Amino acid sequence: MSAGSRFDRTAERYAAMAATRDWTGFVEWCDPGPDDRALDVAGGPGSLAAALRPQVGSITVLDTSARLLEFVPEGIGRSLGRAEQLPFDDKSFDLVTCVNSLHHIARPPRALDEMARVLAPGGRIVLEDFIADDDPGRARRWEEIERLRDPEHGRLITAGEPRVPLLGAGLDLDAEEMWLRVFEVDPWLELAGCAGSAAEHARELIGGPTFELRVWRARFRRPA
Ligand SMILES: C[S@@+](CC[C@H](N)C(=O)[O-])C[C@H]1O[C@@H](n2cnc3c(N)ncnc32)[C@H](O)[C@@H]1O
Repeated sequence: MSAGSRFDRTAERYAAMAATRDWTGFVEWCDPGPDDRALDVAGGPGSLAAALRPQVGSITVLDTSARLLEFVPEGIGRSLGRAEQLPFDDKSFDLVTCVNSLHHIARPPRALDEMARVLAPGGRIVLEDFIADDDPGRARRWEEIERLRDPEHGRLITAGEPRVPLLGAGLDLDAEEMWLRVFEVDPWLELAGCAGSAAEHARELIGGPTFELRVWRARFRRPA
């Protein structure tokens, strides 16, 4: 497991930031029901799970960071494990979520296969993540910046990439949307514990106090 991962090292800072997010819009997208068995994959400190908890039957957070899982509130299940090998039975959840994490997971298609495997008939998978630039040169340059910030960064997914494994597994794409999010460079670097020459180099490459990334959100359904 990833004892000593970037998220273990920066757990308090990350949990404090995650607690400030307003999850109202995301929760609506989940279309939660009182009997739902929900799973938040790579759910970190459980802030989404805490927002979903009153509207579902049960919810579990799975993550590789033991330190982040310590922040998951009471009444929510915790599972130390990898998204690429979910320790759950087939068809055992009605709602599976994964937010801002596919770009940290070493093998996103494998994690998506696993999310589809544990999803019961009639269930939903709701994903949100940052999307790579359509221009391959700009995308490569951004990956360089991301790795300066966090050497454990995987790669940003490309637009529509999760559709391939999920539609292949028999799910339907129910809804999707994309928008731009503006980041301030300094807090973004600090959140990941990036300082010194790596931070200087990243600032130089970004070339300004802010930057924008595209965010993609989608809901997939398994027919009943
Ligand atoms: C940017 S955080 C997002 C956490 C949470 N979903 C949120 O939005 O606040 C990425 C999370 O992915 C977790 N992670 C990284 N690789 C993972 C893997 N292979 N399986 C499960 N979790 C993983 C990290 O420990 C971290 O909690």
